[in-house]
Amino acid sequence: MDRAAIILAAGAGTRMKSERPKVVHEILKKPLVLWVADAAKEAGIRQIVSVVGHKREQVIPLVEGIGDVAIQEHQAGTADAVMAAMHSDSLEDFSGSVIIFSGDCPLIRPETIAYMMEVREREDAACCVLTMEMDDPFGYGRIVKDQPEYPGGFGRIVRIVEQKDGTPEELAITECNSGFYCFDAKLLADALGKVGSQNAQGEYYLTDVMAILDGQGYRCLAIPCDDPMECLGVNSRVQLAEATSAMQTRINRHWMESGVTMMAPETVWIGPDVVLDQDVELLPMTMLFGNTSIGSGSVIGPNSRLTDTRVGNGCTVDETVAIGAVIDDGAECGPRAYLRPEAHLCEGAKAGTHVEIKKSTVGRGSKVPHLSYVGDAEIGEGVNLGAGTITCNYDGYKKHKTSIGDNTFIGSDTMLVAPVSIGADAVVGAGSVITKDIPDGALAVARARERVIDDWASKRKISKEG
Ligand code: UD1
Ligand code: CA
Repeated sequence: MDRAAIILAAGAGTRMKSERPKVVHEILKKPLVLWVADAAKEAGIRQIVSVVGHKREQVIPLVEGIGDVAIQEHQAGTADAVMAAMHSDSLEDFSGSVIIFSGDCPLIRPETIAYMMEVREREDAACCVLTMEMDDPFGYGRIVKDQPEYPGGFGRIVRIVEQKDGTPEELAITECNSGFYCFDAKLLADALGKVGSQNAQGEYYLTDVMAILDGQGYRCLAIPCDDPMECLGVNSRVQLAEATSAMQTRINRHWMESGVTMMAPETVWIGPDVVLDQDVELLPMTMLFGNTSIGSGSVIGPNSRLTDTRVGNGCTVDETVAIGAVIDDGAECGPRAYLRPEAHLCEGAKAGTHVEIKKSTVGRGSKVPHLSYVGDAEIGEGVNLGAGTITCNYDGYKKHKTSIGDNTFIGSDTMLVAPVSIGADAVVGAGSVITKDIPDGALAVARARERVIDDWASKRKISKEG
């Protein structure tokens, strides 16, 4: 059976108190609406329609890559939003299962989505609603049921009543509408046309569809959700933090179960696209985002933030910020290293304390141990850069390259004024300002010659005394 998803993302989210629409706010660097879209994709749904409206110029760039975009001009209610999606090119003639998500419920699991679709199709129901038991149901739509239960033990929903429309008896019901539904597309399209707006909010409620379908003799099934957290809607910054923490716990648990050690998982944040090998160790205050991957046996942290960075096996990454860097097997960095885009530490290389590296390769086993800036440089194997070595790569207009051959030794406090090329097996004396190329095997010293004047102290004393 064909399966499609509709993501409702047209609302404003006033309680966020933000210039940005709610669904573009992020959890672990990923916008809310994309968490929902990815859960749908992981559940095997290929066809996705996002409904946008409020400040849609900020939402469309996020969702246009995942499928069709339907525009809801005025936020006249959830039924109206779904109607806009059903009239989109991809759903106009669609038959099969349509699953409906709110763009602000990022914690839904793909397994739950798949299960809802399975149940609807197997039981040949018009609709399945994911429901949750709430201690405090205030604000949610209440699930009004009737006997007898349907086969499989699923409750029969006769209608859903919104908070503002409920009688005291209805509002006493604690089983709530999560806002996740799976419909038979044809029956949904037909019922939507019958939804009115005679209610406390003057809105077209999607939840009125249940009463319409039940009244026509179709089946609406309640599927209880074990974990109400999965249905948590983000309406405020407090809920955004709650959702972030729930997602962090879920992701960290997954990695610990896959063989990653975390001393204090509550202080480790891992983005959804990060990949970790077995026996990685993450120390406190570590953040891994973007397309970061870490190889087996590597230890990251404490206090490290890696974005789009590839770390090999057996590396040590201590107090390091790395963005778009590559750290090969056995390499070491930090404490307090800053690796910027296109920094590449080859096997066994080192970027030590207070070292910044940008768009440079540090060859196998080469070391930049202390207080250096290396930019636009190509460093061979077995090279040692003394403390305080700096590539002067920028002349105020353009960036220039530095190259250093294998096994060369650069003394401390050396300025390498680029463009400059230093051969292999060369030696540069400490404190040099190198402006000319140095051939293989040469020694270069470029500093003022030291003068030593004997007995200077006593002569100085005499002249002072007059
Ligand atoms: C809705 C349900 C309620 C359920 C709750 C679960 C209705 C009428 N009520 O209430 O039963 O318990 O979700 O969280 O559906 N949206 C649009 N266009 C609109 C209106 C809403 O796209 O015109 C989007 C919103 O951006 C949001 C979603 O639909 O993503 C739900 O809308 P919201 O107003 O938050 O619904 P609730 O009042 O919470
Ligand atoms: Ca509402």
